[in-house]
Amino acid sequence: MNHFEIKTKIYFGDQALNRLSQLSYKKILIITDPFVVQSGMINMIRKPLDAAGINYDIFMDVVPDPPIEKISAGVRKLLDYRPDAIVAVGGGSAIDSSKAIREFAKQIDYYGEITLIAIPTTSGTGSEVTSFAVVSDWKAERKYPLVHSSLTPEETILDAELVKSVPPEVTADTGMDVLTHAIEACVSTGRNDFSTALAEKAIEICGVFLLRAYFDGNDMHARQKMHSASCLAGIAFNSAGLGLNHGMAHQLGATFHIPHGRANAMLLPHIIEFNSDINKHSKSRKEYLPAVKRYATISQILGLSSYNRIMTVRSLVNWVQFMLKEMDIPLSISQMGIVSEDEYMSRIDGMADAALVDSCTSGNPRPVSKQDIVSIYKDLWNQA
Ligand SMILES: [Fe+2]
Repeated sequence: MNHFEIKTKIYFGDQALNRLSQLSYKKILIITDPFVVQSGMINMIRKPLDAAGINYDIFMDVVPDPPIEKISAGVRKLLDYRPDAIVAVGGGSAIDSSKAIREFAKQIDYYGEITLIAIPTTSGTGSEVTSFAVVSDWKAERKYPLVHSSLTPEETILDAELVKSVPPEVTADTGMDVLTHAIEACVSTGRNDFSTALAEKAIEICGVFLLRAYFDGNDMHARQKMHSASCLAGIAFNSAGLGLNHGMAHQLGATFHIPHGRANAMLLPHIIEFNSDINKHSKSRKEYLPAVKRYATISQILGLSSYNRIMTVRSLVNWVQFMLKEMDIPLSISQMGIVSEDEYMSRIDGMADAALVDSCTSGNPRPVSKQDIVSIYKDLWNQA
């Protein structure tokens, strides 16, 4: 037996932030990062809350890759203020922090239900609709995923006005994260008809609108579409799970602080090749691997059909590489200039161990060994 649910109410489209003026909570804690406050974006949240006469306070200490220490500070703030709702405003880090803060606070001192309303300011993580949160231990260079249905926000507001000022490189990284979520959800061992329907729509939107949003941040139609795609892909992978792409990207992020979406984007062509085995197919196999059919379907959704399935999957790999080049995302670690070859190679063994046991990796459609992971990390050093 399988099951599928969407716990989160989704408010979207023009003026979606007006939803805030309809709320009737006594006290709200806004959890966000310093950028949202200093850039003035916070005023778009304050205005409707002020109009509704709702009391609120702001915790603005969220940082990227939220460490345990910052989560603890947020828990203390929440237990002092005792709100009946949290409004999380920001990228994945603000929303993940809010999930963890609410969960830990409930364990320490349960004083009543606290509604979580997530308002993403990037189109990427899908965290606004998932039951996952990632907390980091900076000293140990490890990321710990928390997974429980109680983490899922009750509500999300998707208003593209908040993503209008996102710079092109962040649009590129987060957009490729959306695409990776959707592609991994389509091929994962946990995929089902419901998750696949949502993931395929997210892929179609990325194919049409990601480059438009990248080249013109003021293209509000493209921005709104990518905001929807991020949420659709989030619902899809929340049900279907992810795969090796995310399992390996998490380690690149933890070890070299490569932005999450960028690490996913760089790995994506390698993972499609590995899961479909398209490079060795003619020598070693009589039948296609099961993932080939699914990647070929994805390729067709993007309008990339070729004269047979293997060539259709090859077209998908070429298209992903084209997207990377168009959006100035490096194709190799060496191209990034952030680490020497010796240092990178010396960290591969540890990253491979961690990727093998990462909770995402178990959803990968092709069984994977440590040696496979080592070889993909090595290939990533110097992609032609
Ligand atoms: Fe991701």
